[in-house]
Amino acid sequence: MGGCLVRVGWASTISLLNRESRTWLRHFAESIPIGLTDPSYQCCVIPHCGAKFSTDEIRVACDRCGNLLDVAYEWDRLAPPASLKAFEEHWGRRADPHSFSGVWRFHALLPFAPREQCVTVGEGQTLLHASEGVARYVGVEPGRLFLQYEGLNPSGSFKDNGMSAAFTHARLTGATRAACASTGNTSASLALYCSVTKLMKAVIFVGSGKIAYGKLSQALDFGALTVQITGDFDDAMARVQEVSRELGIYLVNSVNPFRLEGQKTIMYRVLEGLRWEVPDWIVVPGGNLGNSSAFGKAFHELKTLGLIPRIPRLAVINATGANTLFELYEKRKVRWQGGRADWSHVAQFYDEMTAQGRRASTIASAIEINRPVNLTKCLRALEICDGVVREVPDQEILDAKAQVGAGGLGCEPASAASVAGAKRLVAEGVIDRRDRVVCVLTGHQLKDPNATVAYHTTDQELFNKVLGSRGVRRAAFANRAVAVPNDLDEIIKAIRLYS
Ligand code: F0G
Repeated sequence: MGGCLVRVGWASTISLLNRESRTWLRHFAESIPIGLTDPSYQCCVIPHCGAKFSTDEIRVACDRCGNLLDVAYEWDRLAPPASLKAFEEHWGRRADPHSFSGVWRFHALLPFAPREQCVTVGEGQTLLHASEGVARYVGVEPGRLFLQYEGLNPSGSFKDNGMSAAFTHARLTGATRAACASTGNTSASLALYCSVTKLMKAVIFVGSGKIAYGKLSQALDFGALTVQITGDFDDAMARVQEVSRELGIYLVNSVNPFRLEGQKTIMYRVLEGLRWEVPDWIVVPGGNLGNSSAFGKAFHELKTLGLIPRIPRLAVINATGANTLFELYEKRKVRWQGGRADWSHVAQFYDEMTAQGRRASTIASAIEINRPVNLTKCLRALEICDGVVREVPDQEILDAKAQVGAGGLGCEPASAASVAGAKRLVAEGVIDRRDRVVCVLTGHQLKDPNATVAYHTTDQELFNKVLGSRGVRRAAFANRAVAVPNDLDEIIKAIRLYS
């Protein structure tokens, strides 16, 4: 299945040949990448297609049916642990970069490459934080609401989990350039991995005016080749796929199945934070649907391996202004059905969007996406996790974001969709007040300071420009700056009045 087997075979053949042939064959054999593990392979996500490919290959789609690919494992040839508790041995080995990494300490559950060859910049040192304030806001009982704070990653978002895995694969296949389209966080993450490791050159595609400044500033600072195209994320996504094919550049968007292997570890850390107990709900914002897809795969594998007794339910939260998944799953009732979903509903919805000239629009720019590339895998995850999908308007997203920020672990707007969604699901009675709920905070507050400042501002013009245009009418949880003249008495008076 993998390159290692191929090379062992070549070595014995080579010894039987003359010198020229030996030299030629050795060059040929050495051009075959090594380092990926043999019991892992890529396979089509559609069970009745079932096409399989070596992990040596760089692919983002199935040759046979054009659908997405998974990384799969022959677990009986590997050594998954007998219990999740076994991962605790890494806690005492923090000087080893692969034990320190919040991704690679779970290497046994994503073993597509030898551990020592996995790329790490110290990703995944994230926190599962029990938040009383957010629990109250959402409406669950004290101690039942947890925030999985992925903003603590080196580039400030969950993307580093997936990037360490995609980067590992890219390096082992000999890539020298890597590309992505992005609403900002994937590009910041790719740019960071390139600049820290110096293993590759980053090429990023962003829609002009569609990326929050915190994220754009990271890509520029880290030295990525930044291509701003007229259009939005979907336009950039289509272009980057063409360009990568044409120029042979390694693509790190979440159509890359190795990326999602890294993102499974977010759920391993949630379980770790709960001392290996399974929560009732995972609530996650939905954009390109990579996270939700990865979470479904993670729980399916854990259950199959006998490492968890049950699978938590999954809630994927769209912004109302970018609600493709909500529309397809909740309104048009598109279901995975073992890979035999009625795709004509999807095509019809996309045709309607095009005919009406409807484009995604939300203050949560990270999830401002029309055609999520991982739709297929997300439908599968929703089935695995008995999932639900909700949409939340920008008003609710920003109010939820202010509540999260008031607790000290600030997040960007897209992340707060998870909290706004959880609140809705509690109000509907879908989430019970006693349920243990984990909301994934996908990105750091500083990614998008404009949205935060506009929410808290006293400047009505600024508020209207940034938020009013998105249908946000009030800032119920605003913490407004107090304007005082530069005068000691006035300043003291103001502090006495407001503190
Ligand atoms: N939250 C944040 C902060 C994100 O940056 C993204 C996606 C999502 C949620 C949605 O996650 O795609 O797994 O459903 N950002 C991508 C990017 C699209 O280019 O940075 P998803």
